[in-house]
Order: sequence, then C-alpha cells, then structure tokens
Amino acid sequence: MSCRRNSGTEKYFTKKAKSREVKGTVLLTCFSVTVKEIWENTIMALYALGDLHLAFQAEKRMDRFGKVWVDHEKKIEKNCNKLVTDSDTLVLVGDHSWGKKLDKCQLDLEFIADLPGRKILLRGNHDTFWNPKKTQALNDLYKGRLFFLQNNFYPYGEYALVGTKGYCYEGFDSRAHAEMLVEREAKRLKLSFEAARAEGFEKFIMFLHYPPTEIGERVSRFTLMAGAYGVSQVIYAHCHGKERFHDSLLGNVDGIRYSLVSGDYLDFKPMRIL
Ligand SMILES: [Fe+2]
Repeated sequence: MSCRRNSGTEKYFTKKAKSREVKGTVLLTCFSVTVKEIWENTIMALYALGDLHLAFQAEKRMDRFGKVWVDHEKKIEKNCNKLVTDSDTLVLVGDHSWGKKLDKCQLDLEFIADLPGRKILLRGNHDTFWNPKKTQALNDLYKGRLFFLQNNFYPYGEYALVGTKGYCYEGFDSRAHAEMLVEREAKRLKLSFEAARAEGFEKFIMFLHYPPTEIGERVSRFTLMAGAYGVSQVIYAHCHGKERFHDSLLGNVDGIRYSLVSGDYLDFKPMRIL
C-alpha cells in the first residue's frame, strides 16, 4: 500500500495544496500509511507452501511426475531465500519427506530448518515419521528450529495458527473409514482451536493438509468448524497436477478465503497469507 492509494487524500497529491493546514493533514496521513506499510510488508509476513516431498535420504525421483518437479528442492531453496526473511513465518502444510522413519528424514528436516524464517510444520499423509501422539518429542528435539503443529497452536500477532492433517474421501477407502478419519481429524483440530482460545486468541488461520472438502462438496466438517470459530483463511495442500487443482474450495466462500498451496500448484514459490 502506498499513500497514493488512500482515495481520501489522493486528490491532494494531484492538486497543489493551498494552505499549511491541508499540507499538514496530507503529510500526517501519508506518514501513518507508511508506518502501516512497513509493519505489513517489511517487519513480518506469513507464508505457506505444501508438499515439499523431499528425498535427500530416500530413493524417490520426483521428476517422473512432470517438469515442475525437476530439481524442485533447488526451487524451494531459491524461492524461500528470495521471499522469506528471518522475521517471517513459513507454514509447511504437510508431506515434507519421503523418509518413513525419523532417522530417514534427518536431511530433509535439516534442509527445512535451514530455510529462512520460523518454520511451522503440519502433518501430511506421507509424514509417517511423525507420530501425532509424540508431537511434543519432536518439538523438544527441534526446539527453536522447527515447530510441529498438532493438537497445539502457534501465535502469529493477534492470530492463532491452528491446524491438523484433515481428511477427505478420495475413493481409496470405504465411506465408513473416511468418515472415521474425518471425525478423528476434526477432534484434533478442535484441540488446536481450544488450546488457542484458552490463551485468549479470537482470530484464527486454519491449516489442513488435505483439501477441506471432497470433490463436488461445498460444506464439510472442516468448513463448518472454520465458520464456527470465525476463521478468516483456510490453507490446504495435497492436490497435485492440473486436473486436481480445483478439487476443493478456492477464493472467498461464505466470508472465508480458501487457498491451495501445494508445491507444484505454486511452482514451489511460497504464498503470502498475511
Ligand atoms: Fe498429501
């Protein structure tokens, strides 16, 4: 934002101000906008990116999934270093590593830890290294370097960043099984919201790895929760390939902004959320 975009004062920049009083008003307005601009654009920013699918210790070639995946880890590193500063926060929305156990994703997690900013990690369906019941152990292990978001929350200014893996029916299991997973994830998400509320937070940004709705659905357990808690944005990933980018909600729906941040959708360039 620049002071020229303030419609109430813009006319003063196109016409020469005639009195000192008017000039003073213009300068004051311009100064206050500039301070806001510095706060919003320089001091702190919130970014999100999902599905890094790193494989520094696994035999997994991602380039077989298309050109966008060629040397994708180099794109991640380059884009993050270009966009994200150490004052910023970067939420990585799941599917971090192909390593199945923690000792098989050490290099992947080190790569993430070395990216700029505060890194907040969400569980994806491939993150089997992360036992949700042992999140505290991960947070202790990577204290000060990575924060694992599960049944807890992360403060970001007046917002609480809340989230869980989520789930939606994709035709790979039975309806009953899918509903059971949705219920379990909804309970975990509620724990995240309530942990933030207990600390006095009233504004939330909600992260899911899975899309909030299945194909053709407009309302789900997760969208209802987002509405009930007054969430302003829902961020998700998991959808790969052009044919899947529109599987779920995008843009403003019922007053909530929905954004897909899967790596190949963004060509591995983190999306600015706030
Ligand atoms: Fe996924």
